[in-house]
Amino acid sequence: RYEAVIFDLDGVIADTAKFHYEAWKKIAEELGIYFDEKINESLKGVSRMESLEILLKQSEKEYSQEQKNYFASKKNDYFKSMIQKITPGDILPGSIELIKILKRYNVKLAVASASRNANTVLENLGIKSEFDYIVDAAKIVNVKPDPEIFLAAAENLGVEPKKCVGIEDSVAGIEAIKRAGMFAIGIGDPTILKKADMVLEDLRYTQKIVKLVIGE
Ligand code: BG6
Ligand code: MG
Repeated sequence: RYEAVIFDLDGVIADTAKFHYEAWKKIAEELGIYFDEKINESLKGVSRMESLEILLKQSEKEYSQEQKNYFASKKNDYFKSMIQKITPGDILPGSIELIKILKRYNVKLAVASASRNANTVLENLGIKSEFDYIVDAAKIVNVKPDPEIFLAAAENLGVEPKKCVGIEDSVAGIEAIKRAGMFAIGIGDPTILKKADMVLEDLRYTQKIVKLVIGE
């Protein structure tokens, strides 16, 4: 039996991965840089600045730190205006049911998102109070694939990492969960999330997850 489930937010609980993608696409267009869904896979789960660095690899130009700060903050402005309108309708299917069942079994729940907008997203979705702990991304030094954010969640829940299940839609996130010594559930494509212990299309596979966590 596992004692805690640590969720990623964007692309796992919230249908917001598409907004990150759209916002980066706008920046790429403004910079005249090539960008596609495949490059986007490597942006998932990583911090804002790191994402920009990956994007800029497609460019021959050199950008100063000041220019980088400008484009990172512009991307965040686009993203923030997109999430302003999100409502409980933007919760990905299966999430609420899964959260409710896990709580009934006294499984501790945390959110480990690299996003500095995580609190706003959770508030707008109306589910912030469901979680025992929400990691503050601003306090994390080493971003995913480093295990730090998942280890911080486990420590704050008071649960040993090996008693935790992590759920992620990104390659970087799955690696972070594995390096933290936890069981990794991938949400998405098994050919992309190769290091996950189990890959599901979405959280509608509630029973499968509950069975794994409860150990029945
Ligand atoms: C992650 C997303 O959850 O948060 C990434 O998967 C994003 O795409 C990262 O770059 C940082 O988000 P923010 O909101 O702090 O720019
Ligand atoms: Mg994600």
